[in-house]
Amino acid sequence: MQIIIFDDAQQVAENAAHWVSELIKSKDAPVLGLATGSTPISLYKQLVAKHQRDQLSFANTTTFNLDEYQNIDAENSQSYRYFMNDNLFDHVDIDKSKTYLPTCTQSENPREQGLAYESKIKHAGGIDLQILGIGANGHIGFNEPTSSLASRTRIKTLTQQTLTDNSRLFKADEPQPTLAMTMGIATILDARYVLLMATGKGKASAVKDMITGPLSAMCPASALQIHENAIVLLDKEAASELDDQAYYLWADKENRKVNQAFGLFHNF
Ligand code: GLP
Repeated sequence: MQIIIFDDAQQVAENAAHWVSELIKSKDAPVLGLATGSTPISLYKQLVAKHQRDQLSFANTTTFNLDEYQNIDAENSQSYRYFMNDNLFDHVDIDKSKTYLPTCTQSENPREQGLAYESKIKHAGGIDLQILGIGANGHIGFNEPTSSLASRTRIKTLTQQTLTDNSRLFKADEPQPTLAMTMGIATILDARYVLLMATGKGKASAVKDMITGPLSAMCPASALQIHENAIVLLDKEAASELDDQAYYLWADKENRKVNQAFGLFHNF
């Protein structure tokens, strides 16, 4: 794991945008894994700015989102499709027919939908770079604690903690979905690179569990310990429960020299 600690959330977003834009520029047909939630919104703002200011083009990029609520219309402002259009897709030159989310209506079989999503990812050549946030309970995507470390795209029941954490995003009269389709932990681990962003004090305990273990289904993000190319971008608050911060800062300086010489994605 490469752990990079920044002063604030703005720097986390800027650095994440740098990783994404370098990926897009380095591949003819890049495949990005995308996340929703509050954390990546500032990343998407940076990417839109790079598109407008530096002509960063998404024309050849294919995207796969981590998750989507079950049985929700794309037009519903609570859907992750709506979120992605609103925060990124509507503002860049991406071909929306190459942007995918793991949808599942009430009449569709979740297992079949999950298998179809997995094969779409394979068909696109696999995910080059997967963006991740982390839940306060250590979830990635909607892989809640006790999710199998070998899981694939499937339907999950959200925990009470996640429902409570996300209830801030719903108005009093809006129903909050309790089921979601999500990439599995094994799906996420298949990505060539994963880039996890965490900001704020509320994530500090989950971040500590993710990085210092144990590797456990009780903290799904701890599965990133066995990923070959996992990059973790933290602000000071999210890093605040980590021991050994001096080591991470020093290792980051050394990694930057290697990245400068060989490129950010030299492990491809
Ligand atoms: C959500 C999403 C995750 C996200 C996490 C944290 O429920 N399913 O993909 O990373 O919870 O969200 P936030 O960034 O809003 O804290």
